[in-house]
Amino acid sequence: MAAREPEIITSKEQMRRWSRAMRAQGKIIGLVPTMGYLHKGHLSLINEAHKLANVIVVSIYVNPSQFSTSEDMSTYPSDLKGDLQKLMSVDGGVDVVFNPYDLYDYGKARNRGGIQKRDNNVGEISCLEERGGGHESWVRVENLEKGLCGKSRPLFFRGVATIVSKLFNIVEPDVAIFGKKDYQQWRIICRMVRDLDFAVQVIGSEIVREDDGLAMSSRNVYLTLNERQKALSIYKSLSKAKHAAEDGQVNCKRLKESVILAIEEAGGKVDYAEIVDQETLEAVEEIKSPVVICVAAWFGKARLIDNIEINV
Ligand code: PAJ
Repeated sequence: MAAREPEIITSKEQMRRWSRAMRAQGKIIGLVPTMGYLHKGHLSLINEAHKLANVIVVSIYVNPSQFSTSEDMSTYPSDLKGDLQKLMSVDGGVDVVFNPYDLYDYGKARNRGGIQKRDNNVGEISCLEERGGGHESWVRVENLEKGLCGKSRPLFFRGVATIVSKLFNIVEPDVAIFGKKDYQQWRIICRMVRDLDFAVQVIGSEIVREDDGLAMSSRNVYLTLNERQKALSIYKSLSKAKHAAEDGQVNCKRLKESVILAIEEAGGKVDYAEIVDQETLEAVEEIKSPVVICVAAWFGKARLIDNIEINV
């Protein structure tokens, strides 16, 4: 049965008023931050949120500060209408879609209209990167942001931590759900919440995959059919390495090499393949405690990330 249509809120003042009214009624507020172009991975986060909260806010905001000048934010996929349909298909639905237009103040009201008028945001990226763009307060999680994706995208997690802080300050949720698909992002948010005393419970939710194992991602639309087939090598090689580890292969160098080789043989370009501690994200040489194998690899125009936990 289709759920009711969510209320769309675009102003941060209105969003805050809504949350405060809900809290005054004793409701527990759940937040699922997204950049839209929703798929079943995003929807699974909403299902998790329903287990812990009475009212659900899904934010849809393509955040300019987490795109670098070399990444084209204007081509990031978006489909607000389709997203609303998908949100109505979730059991229990969603109360509010927060689709803000005024999250950064660049001293000019150019990026009004949220993702609907996203083209107007594009010029802001270089503005933000090169001149601070009127925004100069940033949240950095200094060590956790350095490795893995942080190596090739040095300002990415600064953008993520800052926007998530802003969303927490505006929505004031009791609980926020993140996908373990973006493992480093999830750990960074947990650490930020701990270090800065945000009154938010952060939940990490399991990766949702296509039937053939490909981790769902908004970026999968960039793959041709052929590339998509080859990209299955990521999950296959991760699963194989996990089995090998469970069968006693604890040497991380060997395990990593097998993952890299399998992806390269399939035609992918590996950005990194690392085996790290699940909490500190520090590289380990031998598996003695819970680790996660994290991979980023290019197939055509798509940079895909995936991971698998090994709980020994
Ligand atoms: P986005 O890529 O839209 O992802 C939103 C949330 O969905 C993230 O928590 C992500 O980990 C989760 N997610 C994506 N694919 C998933 C999958 N296959 N299974 C489970 N969860 C999945 O991540 C972002 O947006 C942004 O960085 C954001 C946190 C919104 C800040 O701008």
